[in-house]
Amino acid sequence: MYYGGDYNPEQWPEEVWHEDVALMRRAGVNLVTVGVFAWSRMEPAPGVYDFGWLDRVMDLLHEGGIQVDLATPTASPPPWMPADARNVTASGARLMYGSRDTYCVHSPVYREHSRAIVSELVARYGTHPALAMWHVHNEYGSACHCEHAAEAFRTWLQRRHGTLESLNDAWTTAFWSQHYSSWQQITPPMRTQWHPNPAHVLDWRRFRSDAMLEHFLDAKRLLAPTGKPVTTNYVFGSWVDVDHWAWSCEVDVIAVDHYPSSPETADEESAFAADLARSWAAGKPWMLMEQAAGVVYSGGRTLPKAPGELARHSLRHVAAGASGVLFFQWRASRGGAELWHHGMVPHAGPDSRTFREVCELGRTLGAISSADGARELLGLAPSRPAEVAIVWDDQAWWSLQSPSLPSPDLDYWEAMRQAHRVLFRRDVAVDFVSPSADLSRYRMVLVPCLPPISDADAARLRAFPGTLVVSFFSGVTDEHNRVRLGGHPGAFRERLGIRVDEFRPIEEPVKLSDGSTAGVWSEAVELRGAEAVAHYPDGGAAITRNGNAWYVSTRLDDDSLDRLLFTHCA
Ligand code: GAL
Repeated sequence: MYYGGDYNPEQWPEEVWHEDVALMRRAGVNLVTVGVFAWSRMEPAPGVYDFGWLDRVMDLLHEGGIQVDLATPTASPPPWMPADARNVTASGARLMYGSRDTYCVHSPVYREHSRAIVSELVARYGTHPALAMWHVHNEYGSACHCEHAAEAFRTWLQRRHGTLESLNDAWTTAFWSQHYSSWQQITPPMRTQWHPNPAHVLDWRRFRSDAMLEHFLDAKRLLAPTGKPVTTNYVFGSWVDVDHWAWSCEVDVIAVDHYPSSPETADEESAFAADLARSWAAGKPWMLMEQAAGVVYSGGRTLPKAPGELARHSLRHVAAGASGVLFFQWRASRGGAELWHHGMVPHAGPDSRTFREVCELGRTLGAISSADGARELLGLAPSRPAEVAIVWDDQAWWSLQSPSLPSPDLDYWEAMRQAHRVLFRRDVAVDFVSPSADLSRYRMVLVPCLPPISDADAARLRAFPGTLVVSFFSGVTDEHNRVRLGGHPGAFRERLGIRVDEFRPIEEPVKLSDGSTAGVWSEAVELRGAEAVAHYPDGGAAITRNGNAWYVSTRLDDDSLDRLLFTHCA
């Protein structure tokens, strides 16, 4: 079990490093991530390297018995980096250095400098005894709309669509006179007068994920000869820029950063994050790469964690199978943009509640040898394989970040959270699956929100023989964001035995005939073989059943969804 955090010795004088290692040993820390944002210290001028300080840090950590997750520092290029490497916004403005994440993965000069610094790290530390794994970059997610990006996008589109004709068709460019007569006319979605074309934006999001993955794979190829596993940390939350299913096939150790959004929901949010990470890992090792030692963010405020919460959130991940629990960061910074971010060693120093809890957690983790050990500490029954799956699709989420929707209340994140939360409260083991996953091992599959779906994936889901629970605004479009015609939800209406001819978003909650509370959305559902199990106040079908296929045409509150899943569908 790995335990530790991001360690940024470059922010501190060398005397502090000795204290750091002594405190790490006291806390039971055995792995630290080093160098994530240290590019300007490693390479103060182009091609001029200064690794003396890092040599000493690596040796010191090794002497202290602490392993290193050594980072490639490419998320924060130094000020000397040529402007061409910095990203251009959708308005055409080039961003300036002075913060972090100003990089363009399409820029040849950035790619070249990235490869050079990775090669230097491999040559210098590839056989260092402290090296446990490589940590590529940090939270991939910057967008760039420069000419390099446009060129790469066009090449990607040519591969995806083959001909301009088929791109025009897929993007419905007949709408608003957007027909392209040459590949050169196609650009990234730039700032324009009114709503962008949602199919254009969806392909752009797919392309960006693939392009960042290429940058990751560039580094991975260079790191491969060292034989050490390679990880990268996923951001968690609504800033979702990578297609996690595609990425997770390439990452050796899946790693998530998780910062709960409120103290009241932190526990179930942690379980949600852990189940997602475990599912993305699909049997490979995974870990909690970052969390905050002393704080939960809530509405822009940083609230201290209540006593015991630090351990509880960590154990949630271990209970789901995490092989490591790390924090951002080891020592709270004195200055810089995140000077008020907590550390395992807070500004007050080791004589603090946080550090005492950090040490206690180190002892606890040191004594646990399996996920069930953590489950026991949390008062949970031993783990068992999941029989229930929730379909998760980043691409569906991207499609819901569009302004071209029939209601502003369609919320992908909340739909996923709710489905998981209701199962979590009953301690039901659950996996997340991609829309193209093999579903044969599950008894029940939930599709809480999946607007675009390809024909092949739709056919696979329709053929699932177990209990299928589909919620509103799923299967309504194809993979190009084009509406499936002939009544909603086009991809599933036959299996569900229904046909919807009108969406009726609602503002105020309503009571359904079975006592359920519903809100956000309603529909005119016509029964075509299904039976209604709950009705709207006007008598229309709200929840339907066709054999073991259920349709929920509205947003139920948690208790109502619980009743549906555990009383009706069970
Ligand atoms: C993470 C990031 C860290 C740090 C942390 C603060 O998203 O990877 O570098 O900024 O947030 O919460």
